[in-house]
Amino acid sequence: MFDKLASQPNDPLLALIGLYNADHRADKIDLGVGVYRDDLGRTPVMRSVKAAEKELLEKQDSKSYVAPEGDRVFLDLLWDLVGGKGQGKFAAGVQTPGGSGALRLASDLIARAGSGRIHLGLPSWPNHAGIFGATGLSVETYPYFDVPTQDVRFASMMKALSSAPRGDAVLIHASCHNPTGATLTSAQWEELAAVIAERRLVPLIDSAYQGFGAGIEEDAAGLRTIIAAVPEALVAVSCSKSFGIYRERTGAIFAVAETQDAADIARSNLVTMARTSYSMPPDHGAAVVRTILSTESLRQDWIDELNSMRDRLNGLRRELAAALGDGWQLAPQIAEQQGMFSLLPLKEADVLALRKEHGIYMPTSGRINIAGLKSEDIPRVAAVLKPLLG
Ligand SMILES: Cc1ncc(COP(=O)(O)O)c(C=O)c1O
Repeated sequence: MFDKLASQPNDPLLALIGLYNADHRADKIDLGVGVYRDDLGRTPVMRSVKAAEKELLEKQDSKSYVAPEGDRVFLDLLWDLVGGKGQGKFAAGVQTPGGSGALRLASDLIARAGSGRIHLGLPSWPNHAGIFGATGLSVETYPYFDVPTQDVRFASMMKALSSAPRGDAVLIHASCHNPTGATLTSAQWEELAAVIAERRLVPLIDSAYQGFGAGIEEDAAGLRTIIAAVPEALVAVSCSKSFGIYRERTGAIFAVAETQDAADIARSNLVTMARTSYSMPPDHGAAVVRTILSTESLRQDWIDELNSMRDRLNGLRRELAAALGDGWQLAPQIAEQQGMFSLLPLKEADVLALRKEHGIYMPTSGRINIAGLKSEDIPRVAAVLKPLLG
């Protein structure tokens, strides 16, 4: 059987990690892999996560299975965090292995119940198209961001969605857009919500960076505007970044509807699809998140640490924008963008030369992880980028 298979290429981002590791220059810089880093280049375990793990180690008295939908307390606490007061809608969630697992189940549900089509803004996180394609959805695209001008292509986006067929799904990034960092204004969120509602599209909202942009509440505002406007939505949540628990594979998919019955029916479908895939989600990360969100002192410490991570990111954005400012007129946009990523207008040949000549690593798309910078690196990085951007 195996000889009928063709070998598959490595995911380009994972391949980039290999290239970076093989480079022995002491001053190499990794702006590729999408994890948060502190000013020493580490991706530390958050204090509140360590404390919650200690508590679990002492108190957890069983490793028996969790419920098919996962831990209901975790799901309720997570939905409060993301959905807030719920915008007059009812939600039913299923705990998933990461945000990717949530997107996969959502995609399966759309394939089972919907038009089989999803509209994806470009550029997007590369795995979106991969996941949707793997469940047989046909992926239509709409313009989201113009790399040379660093602007959201809002008018083109509205035009494309205004002619999307009724009942189609549409993927929306909740905040801290990956790969562009470009966010919508509140007025634009309102307009987007109105078009989605008017066209009777089903939004699949991907929330993977809550707290990294402007704040925990602020980063959920757009998502909540959409939920308030539509009868049905799917919300895929990743806890990987906001809790720094990437490898624990923690997330959830929420079906949001106008009645609890409708949300529960969607959930029962999500549960049966999970059952025939991986059966049940891993527990540890969700138990950590549940412990943090339900313990006032841990919750506060988590918020404080997340706030300081965001402050570091925004500080780096301002420093990089200032350092690029005298050579690139669009540099202020870098400071305006939110979250870990920005997408620079670089040619593939430039990206390859940055790796070879300067030990600066990023994917050929020109996406940089701002958290991969250290303050001390910024003058050197800006000096080599300026002639390429200006
Ligand atoms: C936009 C977006 N959505 C979802 C995910 C999924 O995250 P995970 O499966 O690691 O929780 C990521 C991860 O990089 C992402 O960038």
